[in-house]
Amino acid sequence: MSAIWLLFLVVSYAAAVPLSEQAVLKGLDEGAPTQDPSGGLIGWYDPRERGGRLIDYTIDDLGEPLNVIISGLSDPHILTDKGFQDYTKSLGYSQECLGLHYGNRHYADLGDGDMQKIELILARQHYFPVWGTCWESLAGGHHFRAWRQNGTHANSGAWFIGASKEFDSSKNHKIVPNGWNLGRDWFVESAVAGTHYRNHWWEAGVEWRTDLLEEGSDGINHGIAQDGRVAVLTVKRL
Ligand SMILES: *[C@@H]1O[C@H](CO)[C@@H](O)[C@H](O)[C@H]1NC(C)=O
Repeated sequence: MSAIWLLFLVVSYAAAVPLSEQAVLKGLDEGAPTQDPSGGLIGWYDPRERGGRLIDYTIDDLGEPLNVIISGLSDPHILTDKGFQDYTKSLGYSQECLGLHYGNRHYADLGDGDMQKIELILARQHYFPVWGTCWESLAGGHHFRAWRQNGTHANSGAWFIGASKEFDSSKNHKIVPNGWNLGRDWFVESAVAGTHYRNHWWEAGVEWRTDLLEEGSDGINHGIAQDGRVAVLTVKRL
C-alpha cells in the first residue's frame, strides 16, 4: 500500500515540475567543470546567486569571511578530499588532530542547494613535529576552514575557504588584529609561489575579486575588519 502511495507521489512530483526546469536541474547536476552559455568554463558559482554568502555562520548571524576560492578548474586531484589534504599540507597546514578538536564547527551556505553545511576541514599551520600532530592545535598561527561547492544546484567542485591568523590556544583561538587579511595572504603567497607534497608539485594563478565581500567588519565575527578582497586560485599540477 505504502509503495503505491510513494509511486503516486513520485509521478505527481515529476508531472508538477516543468520539463524545462527538469532539464536545468539535470544540467546543473552533471559536475564540474561546467560550460556556461557563452562557452566559457565555470570554476565556481557566486554563492549569492542562490541565497548563499561569502561569510560563514559562526554565532548568531556573524561569521568569518570566505576569502579564498579554489576554482573547480584546478588540478582534479586537489578537488578530492585526499588531494586537498595533500595540497594544503604542501602549503604548510596540517589537519587538526582528531579528538582534539575544539572551537565551534562553522556552517556555510555556498548557494549550491545544500543550504548551510558544516565545515569539512579545519587545518592549522604546522610548526614542529615536536608533540605528534597535536602541537599545532596549541600553537595558534595560521588556520583555515573549508567547504566544497558541490550541491546539485551549483556543482562546481570548488573549495571555499576561510583563512585567518590566530593567537595561540591560551587565548582560545582568537583572531589576531588584521587576522583575516593576514591569513588569506599567507595562503595565497604560498600557493602562487608554488609548493609540493611528496611527488606532486603545484602552482596557482590568482584573480583578486573585490565584489564578493563588503570591506569592513559588518557581519564579521570578532569585529575585526577585512579588506573585502577574495582570492580566486586556479591551481595547476606541474
Ligand atoms: C561533496 O564534497 C564533499 C567533500 O569532498 C564530499 O564529502 C561529499 O560526499 C560530496 N557530496 C556529493 C553529493 O558528491
